[in-house]
Amino acid sequence: MDKIKIIGGVALKGSVEVSGAKNSALPVLISSILGNSPSYFKKVPDLQDIKTTEAVLNHLGITTQAGSLENEIILDSSKTISFEAPYDLVRKMRASVLVLGPLVAKLGKAKVSLPGGCAIGARPINFHLTALEKLGAKITLENGYVFAECKRLQGNRVTFEFPSVGATENIMMAACLAKGETILENCAKEPEIKDLADSLRSMGAEIEGDGTETIRIQGKDQLAGAKHSIIGDRIEAGTFLAAALATQGKVEVKGLDPIHLEAVLTKFETAGAKITRAPKSITLEANGRSWGTDFQTLPFPGFPTDMQAQFMAAMCLADGSSVITETIFENRFLHVPELMRLGADLVIRSNAVHVRGKSELIGAPVMATDLRASASLVIGGLAARGETTVSRIYHLDRGYEKMEMKLKSLGAQIERVKE
Ligand code: UD1
Repeated sequence: MDKIKIIGGVALKGSVEVSGAKNSALPVLISSILGNSPSYFKKVPDLQDIKTTEAVLNHLGITTQAGSLENEIILDSSKTISFEAPYDLVRKMRASVLVLGPLVAKLGKAKVSLPGGCAIGARPINFHLTALEKLGAKITLENGYVFAECKRLQGNRVTFEFPSVGATENIMMAACLAKGETILENCAKEPEIKDLADSLRSMGAEIEGDGTETIRIQGKDQLAGAKHSIIGDRIEAGTFLAAALATQGKVEVKGLDPIHLEAVLTKFETAGAKITRAPKSITLEANGRSWGTDFQTLPFPGFPTDMQAQFMAAMCLADGSSVITETIFENRFLHVPELMRLGADLVIRSNAVHVRGKSELIGAPVMATDLRASASLVIGGLAARGETTVSRIYHLDRGYEKMEMKLKSLGAQIERVKE
């Protein structure tokens, strides 16, 4: 298992290009199931979660091939595909359950392992299942598997109980091959939903309203392969900007639309940073030590839960206190005891963390527990005096492409070491 070793205390400076968004790439690659000819995707990040997605698709009989350019993938689902996603693959990555909707829509049946809980919360898939039932699927649960069956899904009106990102994606994909019109209400509005809809439209799907709470889909008898380029990763961008704030540096992130990160940018400004928005890039310049800032995580366009841990790491060094409230996941504070090992002053009260900013953190060995928690520990280490080692960084490799190389290019003293 690899570790990351950081000698902290260097202000990050420079410019970095973000990779394609992991959370877009996963559903977009999976949506290739719906096509009858090969799909071509650009800007697919080279990550462990993408490799797992490819393994799931290969298991279904879909062939994957690297394109001629870096980060390009060609997926061919034109041959008969299997309808089963086994536990061994789904347990590695929860997003594998997104194959359920496309499989039942294309093949009339699907057998997908239930993902089980994960470190940050129980994360059930009841919204996905209720919505598929609304489209006419017969759902049964047996031996840890979900079976969904329906000769042809039938368009319907579906109102989600909560704007779940995964449920919106799963049902949006399924509805593209349903008979007639589907109206989805209380949908997630995350930029990744719009990116998936753009890719589905390139396959011939008829979708309107993505990015708003009501999405209308006119089902088609069949779809072609996709041609799509994945949007830039707003969470990766936010992570580099939080690192710039924590180390009192100046960093430009390139390759994404600033509007996708607006709630976080506004909070960076409240914390005292200067933010410059350009059409495809964002620059954060720290103005000395930042100020304590309260925020709560919310569905888009609110503050993303996937940036909570990284912003908290920056607030550990702010002048003053912050109250950080997590409303999306019930157990997303696993980074708190690890940040405290760096000397952070944090108290968990129910679903909020009270942060008293310190003038310095001091390096220590810490352990990553999940993807964004790992990123917050890297930020803590970059800002702390002395040496920090972050172990279990396979979590980081699930979601950040070449992170230590990109940080090195910003002046960080960071290296990957084999254990
Ligand atoms: C996606 C993102 C994840 C992000 C999250 C919230 C991907 C691959 N992952 O996860 O990085 O943190 O959105 O922005 O895109 N819920 C239910 N029942 C369901 C579905 C969800 O109770 O059927 C609950 C979850 O437990 C959670 C909340 O709804 O508390 C939000 O989950 P959801 O939006 O579905 O997140 P994911 O799609 O799993």
